[in-house]
Amino acid sequence: MLNIAVMGHGVVGSGVLEVFYKNRASMERKANKEMDIKYVLDLREFSDLPYADKFIKDFELIVNDPEISIVVEVMGGLDPAFTYVKRCLEAGKSVVTSNKELVAAKGAELLKVANEHDVNFFFEASVGGGIPIIRPLHACLVANEIDEIAGILNGTTNFILTKMIREQMSFTDALALAQKLGYAERNPAADVEGHDACRKICILASLAFGKHVYPDEVYTEGITELTLEDVEYAKNWGGVIKLIGRAKRLPDGKVAAMVSPAFVSSDSQLSSVDDVFNAVLVRGDATGDVVFYGKGAGKLPTASAVVADIVDAAKAEHSSTSLRWEDNPAHNTVTDYLDAEVSMYVRIGYDNFDKATKVIGDLFGEIKPIYRSGIDDEFAFISPVLTEREVSQKLEQVAEKGLQVLGKVRVLGY
Ligand code: HSE
Repeated sequence: MLNIAVMGHGVVGSGVLEVFYKNRASMERKANKEMDIKYVLDLREFSDLPYADKFIKDFELIVNDPEISIVVEVMGGLDPAFTYVKRCLEAGKSVVTSNKELVAAKGAELLKVANEHDVNFFFEASVGGGIPIIRPLHACLVANEIDEIAGILNGTTNFILTKMIREQMSFTDALALAQKLGYAERNPAADVEGHDACRKICILASLAFGKHVYPDEVYTEGITELTLEDVEYAKNWGGVIKLIGRAKRLPDGKVAAMVSPAFVSSDSQLSSVDDVFNAVLVRGDATGDVVFYGKGAGKLPTASAVVADIVDAAKAEHSSTSLRWEDNPAHNTVTDYLDAEVSMYVRIGYDNFDKATKVIGDLFGEIKPIYRSGIDDEFAFISPVLTEREVSQKLEQVAEKGLQVLGKVRVLGY
């Protein structure tokens, strides 16, 4: 019998127990092993559940129990998750996690510990919820040099943007709905300020490019500044606004990476990814573009990825099949985002239209204007391709000349 401990009985943890007991027989067949969940670690009381007898409050029972060979960490956060996971790996137990904060901050270190102790550290559920993306990247696409990864990596913000685009719902109302439906993180700032998407693009980039990319290296903007006016300009331009995480390998081995809202053309595959769905585009040198699509958040899709990792860990018992990537203690894999080239949507408020168009024309050269009907105190434009630094400098000059910069969003060509 292979015994499992689950640490955390929140949305994902309870989903893991649900999926495990629903599909236990077929999973045992696939793993060719009998399996059961022996402990569930949580400080709260769950006395009315059918598996109430499995609840414990003391982590030491798990780490010191030689019968436990797989530990599932679905507590979230860094502390105490990091300590617990590291101690379990050192004690010769494989660990499966959905915790992107943990993998993005400590992935290289934990993979090394797993490898040294002949156990596995699996984290399929940390990116894309139920979408298989981690394993395809390090297994099925292993014959490729990955040049670039870009995607809609956060279900909550994609849900909010979809409500803003399709129903003109305000940001606040859409966020409240996302929280009610259980999509948002405990602290919604992680979603709406882009940190969750940042952690996910860091994990994907580390995996694809072989060197740890840390979240503090990646310039990150969320969706809190976006307005329904921006959404309307995007529509008049011919597209939609999406929160995109992206990372690109540069010829010198460095990585260009960023998380930000972006104008995406209606022709792009990413433009039709709506609601809580995620999509990840992987550009390989042999495959060309491969797109992974599915539910990126929610109890059962995420639990499905966790339980799949349990089966893989069971199959790989006594061997370390986990991937590895190099650590980068200097946090210097990513280049300065200000050197990146970009075309920018800019929204301008004015008192005098002729003066405004002259100022913008003089500073930016050939622009593509966008208007909203019936509005005579603002307009928007798409800038030519410039470096981020040049765009920022020019926008400072725009403000100095008495115009208002009401918003800006990058225009991407995926
Ligand atoms: N809050 C996350 C999201 C959950 O909305 O995508 C899945 O990682």
